[in-house]
Amino acid sequence: MFRPILKDLKAIWVLDSRSNPTVEVFAYVQRKGDIFVDSFIVPSGASTGEFEALELRDNEKDFHGKGVNKAIKNVSYILDHLYNTHVDDIFEVDRKLIELDGTKNKSNLGANAILGVSVAIAKAVAKSYDMPFFKYLSFWTKSYEYYLPIPMMNIINGGVHADNDLDFQEFMIVPLGFEDFSNAIKASSEVYNSLKKILKENNLSVSVGDEGGFAPRIDSPFKACEFIIAAIEKSGYKVGKDFYISIDVAASSFFKDNKYIYLKNPINHKELINVYEKLISSYPIFSIEDPFDENDWEAWKEFTNKYKNKILIVGDDIFVTNIERIEKGINNNVANAVLIKLNQIGTLSETIKAISLANKNGYKTIISHRSGETEDNTISHLATNNSYFIKTGAPARSERNSKYNELLRIYNFYNLNYYATLYKSNYLVTS
Ligand code: PGA
Ligand code: ZN
Repeated sequence: MFRPILKDLKAIWVLDSRSNPTVEVFAYVQRKGDIFVDSFIVPSGASTGEFEALELRDNEKDFHGKGVNKAIKNVSYILDHLYNTHVDDIFEVDRKLIELDGTKNKSNLGANAILGVSVAIAKAVAKSYDMPFFKYLSFWTKSYEYYLPIPMMNIINGGVHADNDLDFQEFMIVPLGFEDFSNAIKASSEVYNSLKKILKENNLSVSVGDEGGFAPRIDSPFKACEFIIAAIEKSGYKVGKDFYISIDVAASSFFKDNKYIYLKNPINHKELINVYEKLISSYPIFSIEDPFDENDWEAWKEFTNKYKNKILIVGDDIFVTNIERIEKGINNNVANAVLIKLNQIGTLSETIKAISLANKNGYKTIISHRSGETEDNTISHLATNNSYFIKTGAPARSERNSKYNELLRIYNFYNLNYYATLYKSNYLVTS
């Protein structure tokens, strides 16, 4: 038998893109007498959902309370229990991790410790089989056809990711009109740099927010869309054909006392729907993520019912990559797409289960980074298996580009097709 066995786990802290520490785990597995090592760096959110798995922080003096020494120690505890065991079944490894933690939200060992171990082991096992990670993943995702995902690139940042007055968090371009992934990235980079010029011409700042998109001092989502459209046109591309626009409202972040604080005024969900309606009728809006607070299920239902055949309605904070919450969404006809973030749920296998559940029920999945990121590019591999989309920020700053660049490597070395063609022929409603 040549099954991989866990020989060591080493956890250290490294810095993320906001200069906060985060956990990097190295897994050492032995197979046929050889040792194989791989690692994973856990990302960190800012607009976190209330129901996410817990990211364990030290809450002591160091790093303004954000130290991760407790999580690092917990990786040693995990090693004591997994040392010398077979680690070739990710469901079995993760089942043990969940059991060791013993809580529903991974608050005992910390989702950062658990996820670091879960993914690092899977990557080391893939190495021991001499397989690229995206191919190894297909054993578990049951996706034996790989595609390069359609990027949703956040080129104007607002909300809690930027120091401006934009209430909505992300304004993204979606390069749907391209035959292959590399042309989609090339065109997106051109639009990004056109936008920079346009903002400068308008005497607006071209400093960037947490996800690499520009953070001009504007407040209106309409203005943000106008700038994006101007940038697409300036680059010689067609709006509503080559590029669409996606928005992550992240509405939980401006929901106070049952009202949405939009342009400094408290409004109710119906008034907010009117804003979306106007955006949808004015621009080629492809998707709206988190249009309402994570607990405002009635508003979600109303909006889904009205727009589910026209745009993607994406649940992030409402679902938190949690199968119970996604199931509730499906049963209540809420949303038609799910944002997938590994660290919201805290293990690789639970993430894969969430993707499968969504896909089985016709919900599209979008593999997502976090606003606090690193050079780690593992999500690019996950995004080639059974998901149409990847959301990983602007085509700028290396913690975002590390994901696009890894997909470019996969494109160049493995010749995968771009998902856009298939998506357009199957789903795109153009009217
Ligand atoms: P977060 O932002 O990582 O700060 O949660 C990303 C998102 O809301 O999609
Ligand atoms: Zn979001």
